[in-house]
Amino acid sequence: MGLSRMIREPPGGCNVGRIAVFIFISFILFNVTLAEDELMGPVFVKEPPNRVDFSNGTGAQVECQARGNPQPDIIWVRGDGTAVGDVPGLRQVLPNGNLVFPPFRAEDYRQEVHAQVYSCLATSPAGSVHSRDVNVRAVVAQYYDTDVNKEYAIRGNSAILKCVVPSFVADFVKVLSWHTDQGEEFTPTDDYGI
Ligand SMILES: *[C@@H]1O[C@H](CO)[C@@H](O)[C@H](O)[C@H]1NC(C)=O
Repeated sequence: MGLSRMIREPPGGCNVGRIAVFIFISFILFNVTLAEDELMGPVFVKEPPNRVDFSNGTGAQVECQARGNPQPDIIWVRGDGTAVGDVPGLRQVLPNGNLVFPPFRAEDYRQEVHAQVYSCLATSPAGSVHSRDVNVRAVVAQYYDTDVNKEYAIRGNSAILKCVVPSFVADFVKVLSWHTDQGEEFTPTDDYGI
């Protein structure tokens, strides 16, 4: 009953209403302030992958992002835990936390940069988290050729042909199809069976 009278009588009702709104807003502000003060340890928003293979012609960018309160800093460390810095033209840690490997010339290949285990560390006063290991491997694009050795089989029996890929690129090569001199093509969906 008191409430309905306040609504009908503008002067009094309005004041009470203002006080209510004021209390409500203060309540919200108070809560927001509390939330801002609440520490939250770093949590990965984007955790880098376990393996990053790239070619000298393309380069690579490895993403790492974390959130928390306060906002965590991102640093990159090697397998032995030491922090990773910039190497001009070869490796750069961006302010957003991404690790960048620009394209590079064959003669600029450096094992400690281009074949290295990295991990991303998100750290703040509220704590720190380590990402999984990121195995980075760069290859220098170079010419290679594949081969097939002759196989003999008695008519009616099977012969198995192997695609011989040079070992220096074998890890990065996938056999997509086989071809005969007559222009026939076989893909993995055919199970390569003739
Ligand atoms: C990558 O290496 C190949 C082979 O040496 C070279 O031809 C190419 O120019 C290199 N790419 C860049 C971006 O330097």
